[in-house]
Amino acid sequence: MADFRDVLPLEALRPGLVTPARIDGQVIALALVDGQPRAFQSLCPHDKASLQGGKVEGCELHCPRHFARFDLSTGKVSAGWRVDDLRLYPARIAGDRVEVDADAVRQNPPDGAKKVWDFT
Ligand code: FES
Repeated sequence: MADFRDVLPLEALRPGLVTPARIDGQVIALALVDGQPRAFQSLCPHDKASLQGGKVEGCELHCPRHFARFDLSTGKVSAGWRVDDLRLYPARIAGDRVEVDADAVRQNPPDGAKKVWDFT
């Protein structure tokens, strides 16, 4: 079930730029596409570069390290790359704030690591 949580003010997002945010102790990244927020994992699926220095053109995110391009609608990488899809998370505008679905982040953590809970 969706669990939208406030992550930052909408004015923190700038066209073309990637902005980090925290949700449930996880670091994610956000960008604007056609004025709407898109949330995704903060590290590149190729070689774990921070995507904070990436550029967004239209619906495409350019990784700053080796320049792979990811579609921010589907998470798919550009042709020629053999890497996992970019993990995307539902995001929405609520007033002058941006909310992200914390449940989606929990289900598919941005660092790819599955949490192991030890109750012993
Ligand atoms: S680390 Fe992003 S393309 Fe290599």
